[in-house]
Amino acid sequence: MLLVLKMEDRYAFLTEWYDPTAALLRRYQLFYYPKDGSVEMFDVKNQRIFLRRTKYDEIHQEDLFVGNRVNVFSRQLNLIDYGDQYTANKLGSKKERTLALIKPDVVTKIGDVLELIYSSNLIVTKAKMTKLTWSQAADFYVEHQSKPFFSNLVQFVSSGPVVAMELMGDEAMSIWRRLLGPADSAVARREAPQSVRAQFGTDGIKNVGHGSDSLAAAARELEFFFPSTIGHGPSNTAIYTDCTCCIIKPHAISEGLTGKILNSISAAGFEISALQMFNVDRANAEEFYEVYKGVVTEYPSMVTELCSGPCMVLEIHGTDSPQTFREFCGPADPEIARHLRPTTLRALYGKDKVKNAVHCTDLPEDGVLEVQYFFKILDG
Ligand code: CDP
Ligand code: MG
Repeated sequence: MLLVLKMEDRYAFLTEWYDPTAALLRRYQLFYYPKDGSVEMFDVKNQRIFLRRTKYDEIHQEDLFVGNRVNVFSRQLNLIDYGDQYTANKLGSKKERTLALIKPDVVTKIGDVLELIYSSNLIVTKAKMTKLTWSQAADFYVEHQSKPFFSNLVQFVSSGPVVAMELMGDEAMSIWRRLLGPADSAVARREAPQSVRAQFGTDGIKNVGHGSDSLAAAARELEFFFPSTIGHGPSNTAIYTDCTCCIIKPHAISEGLTGKILNSISAAGFEISALQMFNVDRANAEEFYEVYKGVVTEYPSMVTELCSGPCMVLEIHGTDSPQTFREFCGPADPEIARHLRPTTLRALYGKDKVKNAVHCTDLPEDGVLEVQYFFKILDG
């Protein structure tokens, strides 16, 4: 008799978790079994099983690639390497990261651009609104130093806020460049009418965005905006006056709702004066939500939600912004919101009281403090 043993599919990763209690980086092997969606963890240093094979619905195969971060039972694990050749071949071959820079002409249309990015199966893993100085912009475009358009280009890119993003996905670099279209917006309208530059660009200089043109350029340009070593790159644009804080929650980010939510916010006339993605760890989530502790029964789940993946934090600017923005977000419970205020953000994009799409500042006097917590303390 011929016995055919069919191996069950298993993906392996080397992961790192920062243990805040011991102030140590711990390493685990993470195994994922796609057949039943179960995970297993192995402690590398102590050579023993850390988590027995357990079904865990919150991990999906598309989240599993090196450079991404996944949440397993409230631990944020950085996937730092493939654990075997099989996993690398199967899941890793085409994953890339690239820099997308939204130029000053269309920062107010960031929601539309994000919609196109998500519909091309790319995900946004980092984002920051910043304003470059002339010399920062000149550094960024150093490869074009000798070109006739150099000074116009540098002048334009440093003339107002830009949004830098890290995009990740299969062939991210070429997909984003194809989405942008030809550099000259008029040419784009002729040759690639669906492209971002055709739809939102004005001319050759005001042409919506930039995309890295090689993997080496992507590495250099990502390091420029999101340095992995010293310093923290160009500063954020928070102004800390007449403002309120909005957090697009991790569940909404992972459901691909970021573009829609930003569009709704802009369409309602709110000015987004700062924007940045954060990976909040548990200790910081607890600290940020401190005032709700013992007051709101959902507090522990709110903490878990906030640190379950990247969130996007906005500074909304305007003299009466805390109050008007809160009304625009709607009642905390999306079910109630859908009955009473069907056009509010929570009615449109929320699922339940915890996964309610956005956090907004409650008390007007806390607006500046909450904005400072993210843009001064966590980005400090
Ligand atoms: O941005 P992309 O990589 O598509 O084009 P590039 O050739 O690397 O040029 C960088 C930027 O310089 C373009 O996005 C244009 O804004 C600007 N440029 C220009 O103004 N006139 C040209 N003849 C070429 C580029
Ligand atoms: Mg280029």
